[in-house]
Amino acid sequence: MRVKKLSVFIETYGCQMNEYDSDRILNSLSGIPVNNPSDADVIIVNTCAIREKADHKATSALGRYKNLKKSNPNLLIGMTGCVAQLYGKKLIKQIPYLDFVVGPRSIPKLMNIVKDLKDSLDVKKIETSMDVQEVFEIHPYHKKDKVNGFVSIQQGCNKECAYCIVPTVRGKEINRSLEDILEESKLLINQGAKELTYIGQTVNSWKHNGERFHNLLDYLGKLGGLERIRFTTSFPRDVTSKMIDSMKNNPKICRQLHLPVQSGSNKVLKSMNRTYTIDWYRESIRKLREAMPDLSLSTDIIIGFSNETDEDFQETMKLIEDIRFDTVYSFKYSIRPGTLGEKMDVHVSDEIASDRLYKLQKKQKEISLENNIQHISKAYEVLVEGVSKNNSDDLFGRTTHNKVVNIRNLDRSFVGKMVNVKIKEAFQNSLIGEIY
Ligand code: 5AD
Repeated sequence: MRVKKLSVFIETYGCQMNEYDSDRILNSLSGIPVNNPSDADVIIVNTCAIREKADHKATSALGRYKNLKKSNPNLLIGMTGCVAQLYGKKLIKQIPYLDFVVGPRSIPKLMNIVKDLKDSLDVKKIETSMDVQEVFEIHPYHKKDKVNGFVSIQQGCNKECAYCIVPTVRGKEINRSLEDILEESKLLINQGAKELTYIGQTVNSWKHNGERFHNLLDYLGKLGGLERIRFTTSFPRDVTSKMIDSMKNNPKICRQLHLPVQSGSNKVLKSMNRTYTIDWYRESIRKLREAMPDLSLSTDIIIGFSNETDEDFQETMKLIEDIRFDTVYSFKYSIRPGTLGEKMDVHVSDEIASDRLYKLQKKQKEISLENNIQHISKAYEVLVEGVSKNNSDDLFGRTTHNKVVNIRNLDRSFVGKMVNVKIKEAFQNSLIGEIY
């Protein structure tokens, strides 16, 4: 007898790891993705706990699906991801229509959980163990011929940054074996992926059986059929000369690096427990740019951490003006449960933090636009990903620098192809180009 496949609707919050996990959830359920929650047998909200706001968003998102149970009493509603891990049982107690809560490490167990629930609808399931045995077992769902995909090479994090909840909800660092990474890469390439982004919380600290991250990059460079390689997120202390050499010598590795600095002040970096100084960070950037002059850099910055003074903030402003990142993701500090930061008793007021955030974002918008204007009249190879979000007559893709380029008047048959594009116009977050 053929068993009907489950229709699954997943709403995803947070980082690329969560997007990847959502694709693994689909495969772990052997599910068919649906775009409309009312068509689903199972609805899952895959959550993010990085800041308090994200964490609230997750629980309120669930509320939107509550009424669907009236028209479909067999519907299962579940929460996965970091908020699920953080609050576990509490969620089941508080939210009566929630059927299951599953943490990031337990995704491989989802199929059994859902099967059990289908058998007896009045039961609730909670799975938040940090059991590591099968953590990398499930490959992600990949829509046929989708141009890009993610491959996780690491779970959890061994750093102890004072503000960060990730080690609490995703556990200690576990690195995936080289064989598994290559196997999953080949699987996605066979399904049509041309560009793969390798992900981990501190991706460049990857090591396994004596191999280090730069060795991994060398192996990935040899994968047939793969045109582009990206990786994120790198930890500044783990940028080595060998890693820079591997990037430089491998034309498939994109000229793009996301290197979160968090603050421009040594005092703040120390209280964040980031384990590097700002001079060290600047020196790494100098080496990277010396090796790859066109490298596009992006970073993350937290504003208003614990004892950040106006002077400290000015040092962060100076840093972004000196480095001129292409993109800066900046956030107001949010105290998270169980972190070292939670125990600190000095805090910047919300008003001051908002004011600093505004000033930083205003400056960065100018820099991003000025950087993008530099690309006008230049020609780049663009890997075409699909129909442009702004105009259905245009296609979009990205340059090696991870710049989104909307390409005018391009036939859809170019999706998945590398094309030569001349840049005509520049905005803060994207470019417009024409094929030539
Ligand atoms: N408050 C604000 N921002 C945070 N980040 C991590 N934890 C916090 C927090 N408690 C930011 C960091 C990190 C990015 C993913 O989120 O900048 O690099």
